[in-house]
Amino acid sequence: MEEKNKPIGVMDSGVGGLTVLKQMVELCPQEDYIYIGDTKNLPYGEKSKEELISIAKKIFDYFETRQVKAVIMACNTTSATVYDEFKDKYSFTIYPLIQIASKCITMDKKLTKIAVMATKATVNSHKYKQELQKSNPNVEVFEQACPMWVPIVEKNITDFDEKQVICEYLDNVLEFNPQKIILGCTHYPYLLNRIEKYAAKDLFINPARIFANYVTADLKNNNKLKQLKNTQRKGHIEYFASASPEEFKKNAEIFMPHTKVPELISL
Ligand code: DGL
Repeated sequence: MEEKNKPIGVMDSGVGGLTVLKQMVELCPQEDYIYIGDTKNLPYGEKSKEELISIAKKIFDYFETRQVKAVIMACNTTSATVYDEFKDKYSFTIYPLIQIASKCITMDKKLTKIAVMATKATVNSHKYKQELQKSNPNVEVFEQACPMWVPIVEKNITDFDEKQVICEYLDNVLEFNPQKIILGCTHYPYLLNRIEKYAAKDLFINPARIFANYVTADLKNNNKLKQLKNTQRKGHIEYFASASPEEFKKNAEIFMPHTKVPELISL
């Protein structure tokens, strides 16, 4: 198959990566996508690096059988913990979220105080701090783990004690007095309208759009994008989940209306 015509793989532990897929579909509607939500193994943020490597290998191996041209790691946790292990091992390009988003965010040199809200595994890896400071050594970074948030999104819990669940983490972050707060887990934008009640709206950065912009530009520069014949979407999306496909569909529709029930994939 000609490189351009191959699909793009997108991966996450669940529905979080759809916040990135949505942006990709807006920017590149002509492309075909294969989305894997590893709902059997979530939350990734509570897993060890070894566990995440073994899970990611299965996902990448599957993408290899599907002859994708690129894999978008729409997951901060795997970008932080397993990207280095796999970056040169497959025939496709792998795009890691944290590394790319950090590079883009630090282009604004006025940003010298940044907070990151992320999973436990991402925070423990200090990958955001390393990557932000790689591009701008003057930036001060505060990282806060928010372990309650991913289960709330995945279980679609709406009647939680909002102030307690949000401020438990947000208060520490606000005390640092950051210029910006990166939502360093792709599940968190699902809670954004609730989080924003407790802090100024323009403090938050959802890196999905800048990440998708970068991936799109890179695919284009490498002549790997299909031709966009007209503004009508022509590509299609295949969804896979490793558990609870019906629940996945229900949550997915918040970001991707008309999502089909995903096919079960064994991971
Ligand atoms: N959405 C993922 C991230 O961006 C993983 C969340 C999880 O499963 O803990 O980190």
